[in-house]
Formats: sequence, structure tokens, C-alpha cells
Amino acid sequence: MFMERFVIEGGNTLQGTVTIKGAKNSMLPIMAASVLNSSDRNIELFNIPDIIDMHVMKIILESLGLEVVFSNNTLTINTKRLSSYAVSDELMREMRSSIFLMGPLLARLGKVRVTYPGGCSIGPRPIDLHFKGLEALGAEIREENGSIFARAPYLKGAVIHLDFPSVGATENLMMAAVLARGKTVLHNVAKEPEIVDLQNFLNGMGAIVRGAGTDTIRITGVEALGSCSYRIIPDRIVAGTFLMAAAATGGEILVKGIIPSHLDAVVAKMREAGAELEAYEDSLFIRKSKLKGVEKVCTLPYPGFPTDLQAPMMVLLALARGRSTIVESIFEARFKHAYELQRMNARIHIDGRKAYLWGVDKLSGTDVVATDLRAGAALVIAGLAAEGITTVHNIRHIDRGYERLEIDLQKLGAKIQREKGLHEQKAASC
Ligand code: EPZ
Repeated sequence: MFMERFVIEGGNTLQGTVTIKGAKNSMLPIMAASVLNSSDRNIELFNIPDIIDMHVMKIILESLGLEVVFSNNTLTINTKRLSSYAVSDELMREMRSSIFLMGPLLARLGKVRVTYPGGCSIGPRPIDLHFKGLEALGAEIREENGSIFARAPYLKGAVIHLDFPSVGATENLMMAAVLARGKTVLHNVAKEPEIVDLQNFLNGMGAIVRGAGTDTIRITGVEALGSCSYRIIPDRIVAGTFLMAAAATGGEILVKGIIPSHLDAVVAKMREAGAELEAYEDSLFIRKSKLKGVEKVCTLPYPGFPTDLQAPMMVLLALARGRSTIVESIFEARFKHAYELQRMNARIHIDGRKAYLWGVDKLSGTDVVATDLRAGAALVIAGLAAEGITTVHNIRHIDRGYERLEIDLQKLGAKIQREKGLHEQKAASC
């Protein structure tokens, strides 16, 4: 199978303005939540990025009988022909976020069939917290040769304490509880902005959800939900990726169309590393900065430093004067990009969930392999900053979460081209 690649000529600083599109991690649960609409009126979603994961979720919804049209960064979804409760194995394997269909299908149809979403290159990605919560709401879940069947004549409100503030489990349980009989209280939930976005969308459909963004979400079940039109929030991870690309190349860019407060932990840590950042109402400006190492970057659930920016931050620190330590506390195996960066002359030592870095003056261009979308984005940043030519292989990973990344970078002065690759490349062993 052809795998495309980016060919990057390093050494150009980024200059100019980039406008950020809608958040992948808001879009995916909200697309799944559209299943809850039992009216025959369309749902309209605005500010939708044209990325692979959107097209995969669109195919999944169509496989359930929904009509989904994507045009001009807008999704129009009609649910009157919802006819299936089974998500195919192939589609489950294609994208982990298909697990978001469990809550809505159970709530709407009283049954759902899925299979275990594939683990991926950042860890096993269990879904035990999803199951525990759905069972607490009255679902019966059984496994039969790899398939998972869940059924519930009706869902009943419950008090649920999440063992870990899982983003996906919080969202799945919110989408199940909105049509449950009675009240549900979810404790120790994820507080990401994408959770607040989902709450606002569900309430736009007529749900009664309160508390998103805090440790506790309270839901009062209703009989049925209708349609609504909704604009999703901008992608804070894509915004952070561009800020780090500018910092790593010594550039000056304005990142606009964002909610700066969603990046408070990122801005604070980048400033600690010497980045000069100014916040405006819907944008962040980064000036040419002299980077220095930071004692520790520890990834945490929101509002802590986001795990999805750990890889791009590693590139920035690989080029910062002095020593830094990164602790990846969310995922078990999210350092694969470090082995690719070592091949570019980065000085990094990995010890379990810790990465120790000693800044170098220059990275050297070479062939590297993207292992997940954020690792891929980090390798692009490394290529932009490196001396010589860097080829990033398997960029399908990047296209899952970044809409034509190379076009936005070209507009900022980067020398990056998309090329037909040969075949899937293997990453460095780790
Ligand atoms: C969401 O994944 C995001 N994906 C991830 O973004 C993000 O990295 C992650 O949250 C953490 O912020 C989407 O929103 C589509 P979790 P999710 O459940 O929901 C463990 C990207 O690059 N866990 O909060 O899968 C799990 O193993 C992607 O855009 C359980 O143990 O994350 C992990 O260690 C990557 N049991 C930790 O919790 C469960 O049932 C965080 O997982 C569920 C999770």
C-alpha cells in the first residue's frame, strides 16, 4: 500500500499567521452523540476539520444507517434511518474512538455490538472504565469470540466514581446517561475542554448535563433528544503544535482562532523554557525565543500539561540549552518518537516513563518514521529545525489529526513537500 511521506528542508524560521480549525477530540464524541437525536431534523456541526478520523467516523455513522454529508468544514447528519447497532470489526480496528458509539447506541437502541478497539503505538488503551460505568447504568456486557455485546432494556441513573479521569470513559458515560431513567452523578471525571464541548452539544439537543470541566458531572435523564446546530471548539493540541514549531525554528508566528486559556499549562511550560508568548482574545503570538532546558515537564489530565503535546515539547527541549526531564504519566509507551529523534542527533535517554534530555545546537536531517499522529507532528517539527533534509514516513498518522499540515507550514515559510512514499516503513526499535 502506498504510504505518503513529507520531505522537509530544514533551517527556515516560521513567520506569519496560522488559523486553527476545530478540535478532533471534540468532533469525534460529538459525531457519536448525534446518534442520540431521535427527531428527523438534521444536526449541523461547524468548524469540522477535514482529517482522516472525521472520514472514518462518518463511515461508521453511515454503516449504522445515518446520512452524513461533509462539505466546507461543515457536517450535516440525519439520524432518522438509524438501523444498526453493530460497529464492524474492521471499523473498530481502524479507529479507537469508535468505542464512543457504545453509550449512544445503548441509550438509543438498548443494544450495541463492538469489538475491542486496537491498542496503538502509545499503549494498550484498555476500556475497563467504560464497561464498569455502563454496567453501573444497568447494561449487561458479555464477550463472545472477540465481540462485545451490551444490552439494556433501559438504562438507570447511578452514582459512578471513575478510578481514573479517563476522557473517553467520561464521554461515553455522559452519552449513555442523558437518556437513562433518573439522575446520574459521575465523580472523578476528565475536565478537558472537549468534555465541556460535549456537554454544551448534548444540552443543545435537550439533555440536562451540568458540571463538565469540574470533577463531578450531574445528569438528569430525559425521554428523548432532538437535533441542534453546533460549532465545535478550536483544536488546542494543533495550536500548541504550531507554537512549538515556531519556537523550535526560532520563528515568530500568530496562532489565531483559538481559546488561549485552553493552553494555560502549555504556555506556562513554554515560557519556563524561554519562549516569549503574548496572549490576546482569540490568539497567541510567539516571538523569536532563546530556549533553555526545564527541570521537569510532567503530562497530567487537564488542566495539567497535555500528553498530546509531550512529543512536540520533546523536540523543543532537545534544542534547548541545558538539561530537561519529561515524565509521561498518562500513557505507558508514548516515547517512540524519542528513538527517531536520537537518529537525528538528539541527546535523549529513556528510562520507563521518564525521558532525560541534554539540548544540542543542531539536529541532523535523516529518514524518520511516524508511529502515531503526535509523534509524527513532532518529527515534522524536528525536520523543520534540523540541518539538511528530513523525510518523515507513514504520514497517514499525521493526516488523522492535522488537516493538510504541510499547506499551513508552507504558508509560514517552511520547505515541506508531500510525496508518494514506497511502502510502510518500520520505526527504530525501542
Ligand atoms: C483521549 O483518549 C484522546 N483521544 C487522546 O488523544 C488523549 O491522549 C487522551 O484522551 C488523554 O488526554 C480522543 O479524545 C479521541 P483516556 P482516551 O481514556 O479517551 C487509561 C490524540 O493524539 N484508561 O483519558 O483513550 C488509558 O490506558 C489522542 O489526539 C484505562 O485504564 O484517553 C490511559 O493510560 C491520543 N481504562 C489513560 O487512562 C479505560 O477504560 C488515559 O486514557 C480508559 C482509559
